[in-house]
Amino acid sequence: MNGAALPSRVHVQEVVARDGLQIEPRFLPTAEKIALIDALSETGVSKIEVTSFVSPRAVPNLADAGIVARAIARRPGVTYVALVPNLRGAQEALDAGMDELNLVMSASETHNLANMGMTPAQSLEGFRAIAEAAKGTGTTLNGSIATAFGCPFEGAQPEAKVLALIEDYLESGLDSVTLADTTGMANPRQVAHLVGAVRRQFGTLPLTLHFHNTRGMGLANVLAALDAGADRFDASLGGLGGCPFAPGATGNISTEDLVHMLDEMGVASGVDLARLLALARALPALIGHDISGQVAKAGRSTDLHPAPANRHPAAP
Ligand code: COA
Ligand code: ZN
Repeated sequence: MNGAALPSRVHVQEVVARDGLQIEPRFLPTAEKIALIDALSETGVSKIEVTSFVSPRAVPNLADAGIVARAIARRPGVTYVALVPNLRGAQEALDAGMDELNLVMSASETHNLANMGMTPAQSLEGFRAIAEAAKGTGTTLNGSIATAFGCPFEGAQPEAKVLALIEDYLESGLDSVTLADTTGMANPRQVAHLVGAVRRQFGTLPLTLHFHNTRGMGLANVLAALDAGADRFDASLGGLGGCPFAPGATGNISTEDLVHMLDEMGVASGVDLARLLALARALPALIGHDISGQVAKAGRSTDLHPAPANRHPAAP
């Protein structure tokens, strides 16, 4: 850490219902998705990415997007987001009254073609059409840059390319930007450098960091980003998640591990860790397998255990 002041408040943005569920081996029944999102609304997270309005052929697990988006209980103060790949998805998400749309393209042309079936130019053309459609609705537009820290097909992505894409996003009418490390290739130095560059070039532009923990660097990357001036992070309950169109993709950083680290560091997030841990511990029964999140298993650092009975009792 370079000793810069950490932000006084960090926004924790929950993506388990979208990034988490999109790659699960089985479809989580719609009623269970709604119950999970409603429970997450009570934890104090700032945003919840609820679903994706994408092709059900591409992501069968989220084929119930319209039902979920309409059925959840909207807690005031929480921003409810849907991922959209194109104008059709955007229109459906607007019709469902989402607070924010998350538009996605990849820094890597190869991943953009695999994930969205579009060239970068086609993606940006779509963004401009979505911005036009969203005008006057009050719905905000976030743009995610997938593979911003590296692509499983193309490898490293130059920083200048990512910065130029942010410029393109803003020119297309988007309000905020997410830098996504789709397959956990980012390292802390790289993160510090890119976040610093974004801050210098784009000032106070709302910037989210979206890290996957594929190579165990997730929370180290959060710390590097915090230190470089970032204050918004996506995370997924239990550490579920991954892009179905990126080889080797695994879960996001776990929300409860992130909040635990922030709590221990004295950085406020407004999230109730006890509630989050209860939800994380209920996940294996819901999804049918173990989770990668660690604090749900180990307990908080402050959860102390009774001392063992003395193994060497004094001789009578
Ligand atoms: N919602 C639902 N269905 C949609 C849709 C949307 N937003 N956009 C297109 N479709 C349907 C089309 O009607 C078509 O249906 P059909 O096969 O029954 O005829 C099918 O999806 C394919 O559409 P097409 O326009 O031919 O494009 P494509 O096959 O190249 O797919 C996307 C393009 C963008 C729709 C698709 O790649 C996609 O949904 N990607 C999302 C990937 C994702 O969510 N990744 C993880 C998150 S980053
Ligand atoms: Zn992701």
